[in-house]
Amino acid sequence: MSSPRTTAQNIIMESTPNDQYKSNKSFVHDMMNSIKCHRLFSHKAISSLRQGSFDKPSLVKMHLDFLMLTKQFTDVILMAQFLTREIDKRHDICHMPARFLITLNLLDELGFQPGNREYLGTPKHSHFLLFDQVIDQLGVDRATRNDYVYGEAAIALRDFVEEHMDNFLALLLYLAVTEEEAIIFSPPMREAARRAGVPVDGGYYNAHGSSSDDDTEAEDDEHQNDVLVILSQYLIAEDYPRTRELSQKFCDMWCAFWDEQITHLERAA
Ligand SMILES: [Fe+2]
Repeated sequence: MSSPRTTAQNIIMESTPNDQYKSNKSFVHDMMNSIKCHRLFSHKAISSLRQGSFDKPSLVKMHLDFLMLTKQFTDVILMAQFLTREIDKRHDICHMPARFLITLNLLDELGFQPGNREYLGTPKHSHFLLFDQVIDQLGVDRATRNDYVYGEAAIALRDFVEEHMDNFLALLLYLAVTEEEAIIFSPPMREAARRAGVPVDGGYYNAHGSSSDDDTEAEDDEHQNDVLVILSQYLIAEDYPRTRELSQKFCDMWCAFWDEQITHLERAA
């Protein structure tokens, strides 16, 4: 029997009119190529993190800003899972395979692990709590965390996403862009955390990045591909301009997040 992921993807493809799936898939492919060319993915922060240029206060600031977005990320997956019902409304195609596929990401994010005869895992391994643990390991106490004033760019991104929590298309695009962000930024973030004394062989940094990364058990690229399959089922041609615009907007806002981290770092130097 095929894996649940492959099975669900195949059902989605088979249940979507062929022409619709093919033209959407080609659009989504082009959209992902233009996302990958965005300045975000060659941002100066990538080499600065990798080379150890982030001092401790800047590394702590970045992690605290990131924590807020990590917390919201589970909500985004949950809402996207719920809003798969938009597929039925729009196309009269059953949304269960799409909901099933998004659930794979949700299980991962909540700390479940595949077991032999039962689910394994613990909420302590939810990605939010694993990231919270990294902040403990950076030596940040509760009072500092509670008093922290989040960066403007992080707040702007969180608020923009929050405003779009009932918009299936926007949430799918946020997931696609943010998985790419995780794929590209997790290895240098992991390196910077390791230099600061955070154990990275387990925990958050072991669970993020690409499935092709031998150093981790991450599968952010698989989660991203699931989203692209769902987009290829859901989109209609009239969505294309808004889809391009929103995907670029999420890249711009993530880019502003990293610009702000670099500005902070350079001011501190
Ligand atoms: Fe995660």
